[in-house]
Amino acid sequence: MNLQVFSNWETASRAAAGVLLDVVRAKPMAAICFATGNTPKQLYRELVQAVRAGQASLHEIQAFTLDETGTVAEDGVPFFRRFMEEHLYDPVELRSEQIDALNPLAADLDQECRRYEASIRQAGGLDAVILGIGLNGHLAYNEPGSSRHSRTRRVALEASSSQAAANYFPGSARMEWGLTLGLADILAAKRLVVLANGANKAEIVRRALEAPISAEVPASFLREHPNVDWFLDEQAAALLDRRG
Ligand code: PGA
Repeated sequence: MNLQVFSNWETASRAAAGVLLDVVRAKPMAAICFATGNTPKQLYRELVQAVRAGQASLHEIQAFTLDETGTVAEDGVPFFRRFMEEHLYDPVELRSEQIDALNPLAADLDQECRRYEASIRQAGGLDAVILGIGLNGHLAYNEPGSSRHSRTRRVALEASSSQAAANYFPGSARMEWGLTLGLADILAAKRLVVLANGANKAEIVRRALEAPISAEVPASFLREHPNVDWFLDEQAAALLDRRG
């Protein structure tokens, strides 16, 4: 595990973007899974800037999204897909054939989850996953109690997760369920890039990194992965005994 603490979130996000761009330089067709949320927004800005400045190209990557809410915007576009289009896919001009996402409108959600896993397998497995951590310790939408062996599936959202999702999309209907990659799918990725900032994440970051590994804090399973880079700001790292 590689853990870095930064005083400035922009610097942290640039460093995280650097890891991702190294993955893409080594393998232009890398399969990368992106998280929705406030935490990775600056990372996506850094990626857009790097692409626009000609320092990097994402034109061959396979892009996946980590999870999706079951509530869909009035125009029928799933919210998390829209988030990724707005913050990254459109600005870096990904083509539609480079993008796959969980479809909460599929008639058979279980089949949709199997399709998504197969799509990831077909891409050669995930080369990197960008992750935030939920206030309740969730990883993607693997809420507390999720098995280390869980696969892609439909999940009920806890109130804090539902609230966080509603904050990204003001005025939207209550988000009660979602679709998510399972913990087993995430932990099977070659590399994980984990981001957390702000004092409100300090306690859950401490539990993820220093409390016993358990399904109560799904993010604690990250410690079982051999190739994880953590990017924290001082506030999120404030309660850690060890910093690396
Ligand atoms: P946030 O959400 O980045 O908006 O804090 C993270 C999460 O809930 O996984």
